[in-house]
Amino acid sequence: MNQEILEKLLHDLPLGGIKFFEKTDSTNDRALELVQENTPDLFLVIANEQTKGRGRNGKIWFTPPDSALAFSIIIAQNKFVMQNNASRFTGLGAIAVCEELKKYYHLQPKIKWPNDVLIDGKKVCGVLVEGHWMGDEIQTIILGIGINVASNSVPPEDIVDYPATCIDHHLKKSVNRFQLLKGVLTQILRWKEIIWQPEFLSTWQKHMAYLGERVQISYEDKTIQEGKVIGLGQNGSLILSTQQGEEIILQNGGIHLRPLLTSE
Ligand code: BTN
Repeated sequence: MNQEILEKLLHDLPLGGIKFFEKTDSTNDRALELVQENTPDLFLVIANEQTKGRGRNGKIWFTPPDSALAFSIIIAQNKFVMQNNASRFTGLGAIAVCEELKKYYHLQPKIKWPNDVLIDGKKVCGVLVEGHWMGDEIQTIILGIGINVASNSVPPEDIVDYPATCIDHHLKKSVNRFQLLKGVLTQILRWKEIIWQPEFLSTWQKHMAYLGERVQISYEDKTIQEGKVIGLGQNGSLILSTQQGEEIILQNGGIHLRPLLTSE
């Protein structure tokens, strides 16, 4: 992977530019820096290796060289972007990866709310959306996506809080990272066009893991709640129902979701 190959590969996509790093700390951090320099909309920051890749809630995201996809896209202000709606961009990343893996690789990926893509119940991709704020408005979205492609990109068990896997393992062959990158970017551009339409939300919901199933939610303060997954709210919140018939609406935050394996 290098700057020249990426520019040739992606020349027909309407990106605002490309910046490749052989090695960097985090593509989201590089993208956040570029935002201060008025970088154009749909600018791609991509690395062959990350030394401080980040996930949600301060978790480490493992990106060894030559084996994964780790990139961030700068999405400039959209008049509909408000604090409450930024989570649709997490859905955008997850839908794009799911659609590509399903349609062109014939895998059966699922979205574990809010930001993980699973294959056979194991995490293959994480999405980290961060905002660049101006006053109390999000001015720019940084959409960061990490995909485990080859087997060395699967993180060691002691740094993950959810079982992980990689695409090569499920396809039983080595996947071309460039082809996958181009496919996922194409899906992002396509789904971004309809991000505020009902079809976006219905597709996101269709891909959801554990729909209609009971799950356990653990909060940062270690409290735990159980409920059945009902679907998504307008702003991408997760709707659960408790055994007492109450509705719980969860916003993206310090929440961990797991399937509940015990029977009712
Ligand atoms: C998560 O699982 O909580 C999200 C992981 C997101 C990882 C990607 S890799 C590219 C971008 N740069 C980062 O530091 N994080 C995101």
